[in-house]
Amino acid sequence: MQIIKSPEEMQRLALDLKRSGQTIGFVPTMGFLHDGHLSLMRLARPKCDVLVVSIFVNPTQFGPNEDLDAYPRDFERDEQLCADESVDMIFYPEPGNMYAAGASVWVDEESLSGVLCGESRPGHFRGVCTVVAKLFNLVQPDLAVFGEKDAQQLRIIERMVRDLNFPIEIVRGPILREADGLAMSSRNKYLSAEQRKNALCLRRSLDAVCLNFEQGEKNVSSLRKTMAELIDAVSGAEIDYISFVDDASLEPVESVQFSTLVALAVKFGSTRLIDNTILVP
Ligand code: PAJ
Repeated sequence: MQIIKSPEEMQRLALDLKRSGQTIGFVPTMGFLHDGHLSLMRLARPKCDVLVVSIFVNPTQFGPNEDLDAYPRDFERDEQLCADESVDMIFYPEPGNMYAAGASVWVDEESLSGVLCGESRPGHFRGVCTVVAKLFNLVQPDLAVFGEKDAQQLRIIERMVRDLNFPIEIVRGPILREADGLAMSSRNKYLSAEQRKNALCLRRSLDAVCLNFEQGEKNVSSLRKTMAELIDAVSGAEIDYISFVDDASLEPVESVQFSTLVALAVKFGSTRLIDNTILVP
């Protein structure tokens, strides 16, 4: 397994691989890997000749009061986990080498980015789209895997690939959960034992909404109320949003008539957790 720190070298190696006819699979991450990340590597591995994982805590997708400096990092552990998944290359750039001083070109998605996480994290998806576009140019993948855990990010990347004609297949990876149902996330590490227990209310509220929907409830204010009551009953849980949006356009819906994405973000102290499910009539 090669570890590549220089963006120029990454691009040169990728272009050489392409010229020799090899296909490249790509899993972009911010590191501190967990089984959710590894499941994306397992999805990509049989679909490509060369598997590249990037580990880069991208500063441009963090807001001024967010956890950029505190974001957990453990490269040695990540390296071992990637080796165990038969990853061929880790792209591990320094922040100073990824963005040119005075960089002034950004990738801004204008239709899907204003709602859900985009509303509470202004500028976040601009940072995500820009870094992912840059990573695509450096790694030259034929396919890239993104997790459904970050449902809005996944849809925005699919839109970027469509609208900017990236010749890349985007593969969706299902949400991986802990045994008790909490969606795996690098940020779960921030939770105290008490908060970790309380965080199960996200999954509980999604299970409840699925059950209500299966029993025939289609009205969104009633479905949302079921979820909000379950979360409000948990001490220390502060709802950021509970949204019901059209699965393709991310526009709010009042009734579940078509495939509907139910997404929520809940804060426990300064830790913000997200989760989602899809209701299909
Ligand atoms: P990060 O949060 O490290 O996530 C990397 C990838 O792992 C994303 O595609 C995310 O959706 C996926 N993932 C995270 N938790 C998951 C889980 N429990 N099950 C399945 N997949 C999961 O997302 C980012 O990094 C960044 O925004 C990035 C795309 C790398 C751009 O900087």
